[in-house]
Amino acid sequence: MALYSEKVMDHFRNPRNVGVIEDADGVGEVGNAVCGDIMKIYLKIEDGIVSDVKFETFGCGSAIASSSMATELIKGKPLSEVLQLTNKAVTEALDGLPAHKIHCSVLAEEAIRAAVKDYYDRQGIAYDPKAFPDCGSCEGCHG
Ligand code: FES
Repeated sequence: MALYSEKVMDHFRNPRNVGVIEDADGVGEVGNAVCGDIMKIYLKIEDGIVSDVKFETFGCGSAIASSSMATELIKGKPLSEVLQLTNKAVTEALDGLPAHKIHCSVLAEEAIRAAVKDYYDRQGIAYDPKAFPDCGSCEGCHG
């Protein structure tokens, strides 16, 4: 069996939603201290819905594929659903990742959560801090 699924290869070779949103409503940047990879997610929010999303990932192919798939999964979704996105869902949507690459999908989940938190902070929207347990507190966070 190939190490990477067709979907991983497709999203790595043709990543969706790459780029920057200059007037983003929320930006989340996280990094992994071990591998050094960094992921940045930009969100545009309209009426509580992700109207646009872009990412910049300086990292491995699995991190790029995970960012690409994660942005596809949250586009057009309400923030309540966006916050439900897990790295497991991203991995499943990619038809799996090798065990030593699972942390790449975790970066995508964390970057999205950090971007939503940034949006809430900017808007002065109250939230339960428990919904963002790792943001800003993990060693690898560059946010
Ligand atoms: Fe660290 Fe992929 S090797 S994000």
